[in-house]
Amino acid sequence: MRMPIFRGTKRWGIVFSVLLLASVLLTACGENSPSILNTAGPVAAKEEGLFWFILVVATIVFVAVESLLIYSIVRYRERPNSPLPKQTHGNNTIEIIWTVVPSIFLFAVLIVTIYTMFGLVQPAGPALDVKVVGHQWWWEFDYENAQNVTTADELVVPTGTIVHLDLVSDNVIHSFWVPQLTGKTDVVPGHDNTKWFQADKVGTYKGECTEFCGTEHANMEFYVIAKSPDDYQTWLSGQEQAAQTPTDANAQAGKQLFLTAGCSVCHGIVGNNLTSFTDPTAQTKVGPNLTHFGSRTTIAGGVLSWSPTSCVVTGSGSSAQIADEANCGLYQWLHDPQAVKPGNDMLIRQLSDTEIAQLVAYLESLT
Ligand code: CUA
Repeated sequence: MRMPIFRGTKRWGIVFSVLLLASVLLTACGENSPSILNTAGPVAAKEEGLFWFILVVATIVFVAVESLLIYSIVRYRERPNSPLPKQTHGNNTIEIIWTVVPSIFLFAVLIVTIYTMFGLVQPAGPALDVKVVGHQWWWEFDYENAQNVTTADELVVPTGTIVHLDLVSDNVIHSFWVPQLTGKTDVVPGHDNTKWFQADKVGTYKGECTEFCGTEHANMEFYVIAKSPDDYQTWLSGQEQAAQTPTDANAQAGKQLFLTAGCSVCHGIVGNNLTSFTDPTAQTKVGPNLTHFGSRTTIAGGVLSWSPTSCVVTGSGSSAQIADEANCGLYQWLHDPQAVKPGNDMLIRQLSDTEIAQLVAYLESLT
């Protein structure tokens, strides 16, 4: 007897479905994809343990059920002239078995899940408190017990330290996830969530927004940068300072442009248009605080990369320009932010290439 699933159109339907499923699975395999199976802290490690336990249980169930199914299909398939099988109407023994056995498996999953949840309660002891604000589409990190230092898209933490996060949004729902350090927690307007994590190894860990929050949801990446406690203190001492006053002529022109071209309406720079990180007018700034922009490498929620070496400014005065515009993410951003990330809040007038070069020189000086 020909089985219907092997007829033409259905066969192609199956081939197509398998390819589609495979492509969906393979989309997770990027070089830069952080894995929950490559953990770097206790929270993610416990969550990984739960994942493996559930995977083992699910695999046992899958193999057992599929084996029985395949065996039954083959062993009891209809043959020519086979008689009508024996008809049964209820069998208490079998029904008890197929109720009790799955209950045992589900109960085991429940117990281990609850055990893991209790194990994820934040331990007592000193913690680094950071307020995390989800914006459309970038992350703001306010260091609450560290003289109110503020960064964007880069959360720098010391290793071996509990980091307590207050998750806040005043717009839409986002979700905070750093696969190698901690699972997902929603960032909900009007309902402040908290979470904690700890990074045990020095390194840079990619984070993502995992709740659809608008057109640029996919471009809302951030990085957790774990430094040794000493390196962290050095970083923090630098961040606590007001912005440096530029000495370079292009950067000085850029500093003036920052105030006159409209940048300072949305962005704050301590030592330029803000007196301190706690300056009340900082609350009116809807864009990232740029006081130490030059110490960061992430711009525009990770959609562009930039580094001072890729944005070398040549010439001065009216002939200042970026040596390699195509390679300079910051140039592309300042040239046309709406083309890079449509719908974002950065609405600026068209800047000339000279103005962009001067602003880049200034921003690079803010280390
Ligand atoms: Cu924020 Cu998705």
